[in-house]
Amino acid sequence: MKVTKAIIPAAGLGTRFLPATKITPKELLPIFDKPAIQYVVEEGVKSGIDNFVIVSSRNKQTIENHFDIFPELEEKLKSQGKDKLLSAISKIIKSSSFTYVRQNEPLGLGHAIWTARHTVGKEHVAIFLPDDIIDNPVPGMAQLIKVATQEKCNVIAVQEVPKDQVSRYGVIDIRKQFSPNLFQVKELVEKPAVNKAPSNLAIVGRYILSSNIFEALDDLRVGANNEIQLTDGIQNLILNGEKVFAYRMQGTRYDVGNPLGLLKASLNFALKHSESSAAVLKYLYDLDKELLVMQGKMEMFKKQKAVTF
Ligand code: G1P
Repeated sequence: MKVTKAIIPAAGLGTRFLPATKITPKELLPIFDKPAIQYVVEEGVKSGIDNFVIVSSRNKQTIENHFDIFPELEEKLKSQGKDKLLSAISKIIKSSSFTYVRQNEPLGLGHAIWTARHTVGKEHVAIFLPDDIIDNPVPGMAQLIKVATQEKCNVIAVQEVPKDQVSRYGVIDIRKQFSPNLFQVKELVEKPAVNKAPSNLAIVGRYILSSNIFEALDDLRVGANNEIQLTDGIQNLILNGEKVFAYRMQGTRYDVGNPLGLLKASLNFALKHSESSAAVLKYLYDLDKELLVMQGKMEMFKKQKAVTF
């Protein structure tokens, strides 16, 4: 099985980031020095994908511009000998192709993926949710492609989450465990109540699905949150007799769909950045020296708001 095409849904309104996202798409907010969506495209390229279908919506044209050439800027960087920056803005554009489809109505993730149905033939397709950034030496999607190729079936990424947080995710019920990290899925439930969740293995935003997913999403009724859910489409694949495996993805997952998650991811990548890590470390060290002051502030905050951490 060869997986070379990916769908990236990027049509959401990004209300959790307002006012930053009034005009700027959430997917272009920087994680330290690079837009979130570029991280997932680079993960795809490192995993052997060279064809990206981005599902966008009104006011998201800047995403198209981001993945296009910019001759004046490139010339300038070239003449100034800024090769690293030149490569950062042009490398992925040269190695990949980008197609855009528009989701006219915000009807949910399942509907966004269904919108891209005409761009995919009878092949397995990768799906990246750009709110999930995976940091690991072996790229997240490369891990899934390995399993999909071995098992010749649909594969979704999962990770354990604290039990009280299951209702934020799609959650799997296991039919069979093959190895510490590989499961066959019996059932999937989107945003289950804490007491109804079949496990605490939550879906991470990386999938490899057969093209039958589009048919499985046809006529799907709204599910959790009153939206058409991709999870329900995958459940339909199982009901139609397809095998779905779940792989416990290796690496740290950052949820950059909220401001705190974006800050955590930014700090992580800043600390790994060749030119900035020392300065960021020094800044954290200085902050740490003030820890006593910070601890005092934290205690006060806890008392005032009657919260615990
Ligand atoms: C989506 C999926 C959910 C998955 C999650 C991972 O939910 O529907 O199954 O667990 O992404 O980030 P959303 O975050 O869009 O509510």
